[in-house]
Amino acid sequence: MTQSSFIHRYLPGTDLTRHPLLLLHGTGGNEDDLIPIGEMIDPAASILSPRGKVLESGMPRFFRRLAEGVFDYPDVIARTHELADFVAEQTTTHGMKKPIAIGYSNGANIAAAMLYLRPEVLAGAVLIRAMPPLPTPPEYALNDRPVMILSGRTDPILPFDQARNLAEALREHGAAIDHRMLEAGHNMTRNDIDMARGFISGING
Ligand code: MLT
Repeated sequence: MTQSSFIHRYLPGTDLTRHPLLLLHGTGGNEDDLIPIGEMIDPAASILSPRGKVLESGMPRFFRRLAEGVFDYPDVIARTHELADFVAEQTTTHGMKKPIAIGYSNGANIAAAMLYLRPEVLAGAVLIRAMPPLPTPPEYALNDRPVMILSGRTDPILPFDQARNLAEALREHGAAIDHRMLEAGHNMTRNDIDMARGFISGING
């Protein structure tokens, strides 16, 4: 395995029996953005929070896009493998269980790409405002991997039907999908945090 590196924050949790949280920010965010959200979702879990390496007009992202909602697919694939290698290395370095990804917007889309391309790296995912990251998912098996998708009814950027296509693709490949439509737009709401917290405590048991 190659050594991959990302600017990131790692915060060890107080209960190492819980799955760590892999926090993946949206466009224009950074490694600090979702830490308070992660701490609300599971205060005892370790946190790994990388910063996306692509800059769009100075705003960090996890992969290149050609226009809003039009992705540079070869870049999606290359960046997904690079991020998955980093997460796998960090998991070993810190002696962690496999993480659950919590991604928002662009971060949700790269988390979905990790489920498509490197499902072995994640224990599950919460995808907040997501769409299919690639046109044709490759063959992969998600073996009942728990995935929650949270869509906003009035989200103009990542509309519900796009998220439904993603949910169907993941379900066809064996994921245990819980897709909810919230009374929200593109922004993350308190309701998203509460839903994610319930879902993740269900996974940790
Ligand atoms: C993306 O580029 O991943 C989505 O359009 C969401 C965004 O970051 O605006």
